[in-house]
Amino acid sequence: MRPFARAARLSRTSLPASLLLSGIALLFAACGQQDRQATGAAAESSPPAGEVTLYTTREPGLIQPLLDAFTAQTGTRVNTVFVRDGLLERVRAEGQRSPADVLMTVDTGNLLDLVDAGQTRPVESQVLADAVPAHLRGADGQWFALSLRDRILYADKDLALDGFTYEQLADPKWKGKVCIRSGQHPYNTSLIAAMIAHHGAEATETWLRGVKANLARKAAGGDRDVARDILAGICEIGIANAYYVGRMKNEPEGSEQRQWGDAIQVVRPTFAIDGGGTHVNISGAAMALHAPNSDNAVKLLEYLVSDQAQSLYAKANYEYPVKAGVELDPVVASFGPMQVDALPLARIAEHRRQASELVDRVGFDN
Ligand SMILES: [Fe+2]
Repeated sequence: MRPFARAARLSRTSLPASLLLSGIALLFAACGQQDRQATGAAAESSPPAGEVTLYTTREPGLIQPLLDAFTAQTGTRVNTVFVRDGLLERVRAEGQRSPADVLMTVDTGNLLDLVDAGQTRPVESQVLADAVPAHLRGADGQWFALSLRDRILYADKDLALDGFTYEQLADPKWKGKVCIRSGQHPYNTSLIAAMIAHHGAEATETWLRGVKANLARKAAGGDRDVARDILAGICEIGIANAYYVGRMKNEPEGSEQRQWGDAIQVVRPTFAIDGGGTHVNISGAAMALHAPNSDNAVKLLEYLVSDQAQSLYAKANYEYPVKAGVELDPVVASFGPMQVDALPLARIAEHRRQASELVDRVGFDN
């Protein structure tokens, strides 16, 4: 395990090199695409063996160490194409000429959008089925979660809290004490969608009105601002993603963000019904519809759920491994074990639109 921990640290400090590498990869990918277009049908024949093309919306610095390890282990070269926005539009526009083998992104909704648009291909793999719990992947192998992004409670260090449920956010005892970002942000629509999946739309509307009534300030800003505003005494509790705590607590001592991170305690809320469980969103991946290197795509996906990759991948952004029993980042480990909401992510995501409409109806962001 030691050499890996070291590799993870190195990767974080050598970001410019990683960026350069992925920049080069992007160039290669772009050139490959031009060749394909220029030579037309001749290039339609199978591409050279030993490569796989990854389209990712994730920052290159986060995943490059993993991809390097994959190449070192398998000899398969990875062409990384960083697609900041418009992943779906891009693969759709490229159509059959798309060099993409694996599509990697965050948020269940983004993955389901790719599936719904018919831009993914099912993967049958026992390795993936064993590593990724059934409720955290598409039933038909169309997509797989690779890491979990739990939506948790940041609370003033001095508060005595014995557990917390998402439902309690609407408790009048927190009036004027809650901070949260826009209700329309996908992190929150995902949580509200989960509330609908558990309690139904009507009860969720009542709950959301209750949360709105408890806000200490306008629902705006980012997740880290919740910690900032707890430190400033503007609010006492708030909802935000867990990985930002890892980021803040690993900032240099004395820095602003380190002070925000050190000002809070962390509680993993659960739902009060259906056996509890903490709401998670994910980062995940799927095989691209036209994947020219489908065998290598499966190889890469399977590598990404190996113990080695899972630990490295999750630690790179302080996320939670999707596979059980994998070594955690120390800050993440300090939050204790996580029981994930057992509802299938796909079922939660069905309510995203309804959640967004509800946010507007109760004027959550006003
Ligand atoms: Fe984020």
